[in-house]
Amino acid sequence: MKPVKVGICGLGTVGSGTFNVLKRNAEEIARRAGRGIEVAQIAQRRPNPNCDTGSTPITADVLAVADNPEIDVVVELIGGYTLARELVLRAIANGKHVVTANKALIAVHGNEIFAKAREQGVIVAFEASVAGGIPVIKALREGLAANRINWVAGIINGTGNFILSEMREKGRTFPDVLAEAQALGYAEADPTFDVEGIDAAHKLTILASIAFGIPLQFDKAYTEGITRLTTADVGYAEALGYRIKHLGVARSTAQGIELRVHPTLIPADRLIANVNGVMNAVMVNGDAVGSTLFYGAGAGQEPTASAVVADLVDVVRAMTSDPENRVPHLAFQPDALSDHPVLPIESCESAYYLRIQAKDHPGVLAQVASILSDRGINIESIMQKEAEEHDGLVPMILITHRVIERHMVEAIAALEALDDVAGDVVRIRVEHLN
Ligand code: HSE
Repeated sequence: MKPVKVGICGLGTVGSGTFNVLKRNAEEIARRAGRGIEVAQIAQRRPNPNCDTGSTPITADVLAVADNPEIDVVVELIGGYTLARELVLRAIANGKHVVTANKALIAVHGNEIFAKAREQGVIVAFEASVAGGIPVIKALREGLAANRINWVAGIINGTGNFILSEMREKGRTFPDVLAEAQALGYAEADPTFDVEGIDAAHKLTILASIAFGIPLQFDKAYTEGITRLTTADVGYAEALGYRIKHLGVARSTAQGIELRVHPTLIPADRLIANVNGVMNAVMVNGDAVGSTLFYGAGAGQEPTASAVVADLVDVVRAMTSDPENRVPHLAFQPDALSDHPVLPIESCESAYYLRIQAKDHPGVLAQVASILSDRGINIESIMQKEAEEHDGLVPMILITHRVIERHMVEAIAALEALDDVAGDVVRIRVEHLN
């Protein structure tokens, strides 16, 4: 049978990895797909010295690949929203299947893209968009299809996890570790996407849609970054038996779906709390399966290429199938998506770590306890350190039971208004993941 012809748009880290894996493993891939997969055109703005593309035709115009009648599948690896959206929509309009690693594109424009793809009867595959080489989309969409998913929680940004791991293990500074992640090619073009949780929110938006059968709603995701975390809080969390991770949490509740990315204390004995460096891990809890954990490289050249090429194999296998009988893009049939709302952060529920800088007076602890108990907030544990010599303030660290966020916001305002409390109360959410 004739090989399937693929056009790779973007020959950066992931594009060159995809080209190299397709070439190196061509025989194995053809045995799996049932046909060869040939790169028939590459679009690149500038040559990549790390990729020997041989005699493969090259163009500088990505849209030429979408318009090339020879090409069956367009692989979009240029990133960003604008040109990538135009390229993908053009490829779909021309009846071509699409494989993309672009989480921002899917999270923000996925509803539109999938609607157009359904009209044209083509596949848009996006395994590489979430957690790099970990096949978590396939697992959630197909392997766990029997389940009502209760929650998904993941370390889904390698750069952020690398920074937190290095800070905790080696006491390195934030800018120093970020510069290394950029040099290693893990960080986004704009690294604020990594450290402010935007990249993780793109990925969480996609996971939540597939888990709960809701449309993609990136604009409703809550994001909080890791830039304000201090080594003091990392140390206190450790002393209380927790690790701080930048976690994406999507949880189904009776009121709606929680969709939030923020620094999170996790009990140190959970496997996911021990995921370090650029590695990613996603926990999925389903009513039938219980808790599952998917772990691996969440970024990098060949791990991400692994997911892109697996999608290509899937596309090749499904090319001759009836579009109505393919796995739906977002796991659920498009006419069966739910309008269960995404909750605002004020309505989300979690436990909390609080650090209060208090004056060393009798009765301060009683005032703090009374503010919390007046709002029904139950204290799980408390730790008080000696007064700091320079200011005489006592760091008081509390872990609470689960509480709706708006009650905690009110309690923190009341705590900060106390004469015996100095400065802002530090608040970090806690998830036990059980
Ligand atoms: N910047 C991302 C990360 C790349 O650090 O995880 C993979 O999406």
